[in-house]
Amino acid sequence: MRNRYEEDVLREIFPSKEEEQAVEEMGEKLIAAVASVAGIPAMVTGSVARGTWVKGDKDIDLFMLFPPETEREELRERGLAAGYAVVEMFGGTAGEKYAEHPYLNAVINGFDVDLVPCYQINSTSEMKCAVDRTPFHTRYLKEKITPLRADVLLLKQFCKAGGVYGSDHTTGGLSGYLCELLTLFYGGFTEVLSAAAGFRPQTIIDIEQYYPDKKAVSKLFSEPLIVVDPTDKTRNVAAAVTMTKLAEFTALARGYLTRPSKAYFTAEPQVFFSKEDFTLAVSRRKTAFVSLTFKTPEFVEDTVVPQLKKTEESIAVLLKDAEFSVIRSGFSMGKENSLLLFELQSDTISSFTIREGPPVWNVENSERFTAKYADCGGFAGPWISRGRWYAETARKYTEASALLGDTNALFSAALGKHIRLSLEGGFAVKTGLSVWDEEFSAFFAGYFTKTASSIRKMQATEGDSGDLDAVCDTNACR
Ligand code: UTP
Ligand code: MN
Repeated sequence: MRNRYEEDVLREIFPSKEEEQAVEEMGEKLIAAVASVAGIPAMVTGSVARGTWVKGDKDIDLFMLFPPETEREELRERGLAAGYAVVEMFGGTAGEKYAEHPYLNAVINGFDVDLVPCYQINSTSEMKCAVDRTPFHTRYLKEKITPLRADVLLLKQFCKAGGVYGSDHTTGGLSGYLCELLTLFYGGFTEVLSAAAGFRPQTIIDIEQYYPDKKAVSKLFSEPLIVVDPTDKTRNVAAAVTMTKLAEFTALARGYLTRPSKAYFTAEPQVFFSKEDFTLAVSRRKTAFVSLTFKTPEFVEDTVVPQLKKTEESIAVLLKDAEFSVIRSGFSMGKENSLLLFELQSDTISSFTIREGPPVWNVENSERFTAKYADCGGFAGPWISRGRWYAETARKYTEASALLGDTNALFSAALGKHIRLSLEGGFAVKTGLSVWDEEFSAFFAGYFTKTASSIRKMQATEGDSGDLDAVCDTNACR
């Protein structure tokens, strides 16, 4: 039984018969094209091969299966050559992308097509590169998932609208394949949500029961959610799911089960801050901002984003070690420039700090301490209080911008490799309102209005007069 919201959503996201037919025909044409240009078999993988794509999201994942004895270098070259030849045959356009090896991302007859070379193997134990696993996913799911198509689509749309869909590093959420496996394992959309509402870190799902006990699984994998790949027992399908996104998924599931509404299937519009919005937010918070901006390294998002995250954390530690009080921080990878933002209680601190020394009766240490701090550079001390020595000493940095502007200090932090290279090429340190930059208006909006998606859905639901009696059965929704 589905409620009326689910019924509504399915009407919007279930691919039409025409779309299905068009996708299928295109797939067949592409397979034939690969055979004619390269003389090798190909197969359509991904959601399009399994009928689990959300209407309109027609990315065709075409895998070109090369014999396993092909050398890697040859696979690379022949793979790209075959891809280009196919694209040319249809008069499409293409660009190269990189995973473990290069592949083509093309637009052919209005379809977004990935042409990926991989090895044709008989079992995942013979895998030579990560993409070799993908065709096995399709073979495993193709028949099993057919009766659950509608449920998969609802789950994917639910995750997309809640901001937890996608295994890229920026999202750290659920992949399409993971959504399908969860649906298969629990038996339906509502069943997945009921389970997710009770998820705890280190939840283990082993569909094919490869491991006799859970202990063996938790020894092998350490991620918050563990879903053993039915096509490869050494792989956690949910490896990319971060603790944050897992918990957000749980909160969304609880919210929806408590009070369903259409909001859970509708993505929130992207918000942008104007300079006025920014100024107002900053002055209301009465905090201090300091930022670093620099050229965005010319690498894909999946490479740069984790490095930005690491750099943000290291610099926050650098600030804290220098006794600046960091309230929150964030980063944004823009097209041209990237931003690291730190929000502090204050960007200036006292020009001295108090050192606590040893007890006076500890002769040796007392002598050392008093000798070291005899000249306090104009500050007080050494003095005695409750039996111990104390002294005021000058700080090296009294302004956060001075600390971040000092390349010796900055480069002593653990920075991401490409970020360091970019910083070496130059960067700007800004404070207060001058931190504003139009390029990051969406980031600033997100920073100042940060709210869990489940809370937003709940708020949107308030205005929605829920009528839960309106339900229909599964088949009627097709
Ligand atoms: P896609 O990212 O296109 O996912 O990867 P999808 O399942 O087709 O879902 P949507 O509808 O496009 O969003 C294609 C296939 O590559 C493998 C899976 O087999 C997936 O179905 N893959 C992709 C992974 O195994 N892991 C990933 O993180 C991404
Ligand atoms: Mn896909």
